[in-house]
Amino acid sequence: MNTLLLHCRPGFEGEVCAEISEQAARLEVAGYARGKAGSACGEFVCLDADGAQRLMTHLRFQQLIFPRQWARGSYLPLPEQDRISVLLQYLADYPVCSGLWLEVFDSNDGKELSTFCRKFEAPLRKALVAAGRLREGGSGPRLLLTFKSGREVFVGLADAKNSALWPMGIPRLKFPRQAPSRSTLKLEEAWHHFIPRDQWDKRLAEGMTAVDLGASPGGWTWQLVNREMHVTAVDNGPMAESLMGSGMVEHLQADGFAFRPRRPVDWMVCDIVEKPARNAALLETWIGEGLCREAVVNLKLPMKQRYAEVTRLLERIADGLAERGVKAQIGCKQLYHDREEVTCHLRRLG
Ligand SMILES: C[S@@+](CC[C@H](N)C(=O)[O-])C[C@H]1O[C@@H](n2cnc3c(N)ncnc32)[C@H](O)[C@@H]1O
Repeated sequence: MNTLLLHCRPGFEGEVCAEISEQAARLEVAGYARGKAGSACGEFVCLDADGAQRLMTHLRFQQLIFPRQWARGSYLPLPEQDRISVLLQYLADYPVCSGLWLEVFDSNDGKELSTFCRKFEAPLRKALVAAGRLREGGSGPRLLLTFKSGREVFVGLADAKNSALWPMGIPRLKFPRQAPSRSTLKLEEAWHHFIPRDQWDKRLAEGMTAVDLGASPGGWTWQLVNREMHVTAVDNGPMAESLMGSGMVEHLQADGFAFRPRRPVDWMVCDIVEKPARNAALLETWIGEGLCREAVVNLKLPMKQRYAEVTRLLERIADGLAERGVKAQIGCKQLYHDREEVTCHLRRLG
């Protein structure tokens, strides 16, 4: 159980390895990271038996940027026949688990294995319950079985309250047919990730005011309007007519970087494709000057050292706010709907 497995977007294995190595060094957990390009996962192999458990105890999954899911455990070879018996025997030393998720990596091999997992899940669940290894809704950890192939599985554990909200960290969000663009799901996923569900009615409330910078054609604005917020949409491009017909949107053809609201607003969101340093500075200004209470801003990452760039920008934002004497919650995640980018969330406190 001394390996920490981390799922990620394919192509971001290096970022996951850099991030977990830095965190492990900070927590003085000895080990090394490895991740094959395109495998959609990284691993941190701990040199001490309790290393992976220490990482999962001291780190908050929600605060990690590049991992989509994590679990501590090890790989188990499986036979072609009667995999269930082998798993049951292996799990005899594991704690009784409170849930079971069968996962695959977000790679081509992983996609091919999903059908196998769907068929395998019901009989396995039944066998685990019968053997007393699975008590749904109990207090034990969640059992995460990540299939690398039909012949090899990573048998992992994670605390349900300190791991991904969805299997493999892939949210099950339905594309709203009325929304004018697919990027609408990016903002919805950001809210799921950064705002606990029981706070939505307070923090995404009817009658709030919002500014959407780089709003055209209106996917993000649609989400804000769907929460019955009044939106100022800033973009030289056109907004979808259906949105303008809602009476909730004012469209301004202006430069998003120069625009300032007459009065502070509840939300600022920004999806402008620009240098990440420029979007990060905009975020710091809006929160720092109290122009908005919360913000979601996308940072595009066309460069090579993506983890280093993101941490540098987050530090710059934190330092800038500290110099102004402003306290804020700062979050950053590569969401499932993010491509070569990450999403930042800031909330002004006090
Ligand atoms: C990725 S699209 C936004 C998509 C939008 N979030 C949605 O969900 O439909 C980026 C937009 O930023 C706009 N844009 C680029 N530079 C801008 C600027 N300086 N000020 C305002 N908008 C800008 C572009 O016109 C484009 O419509």
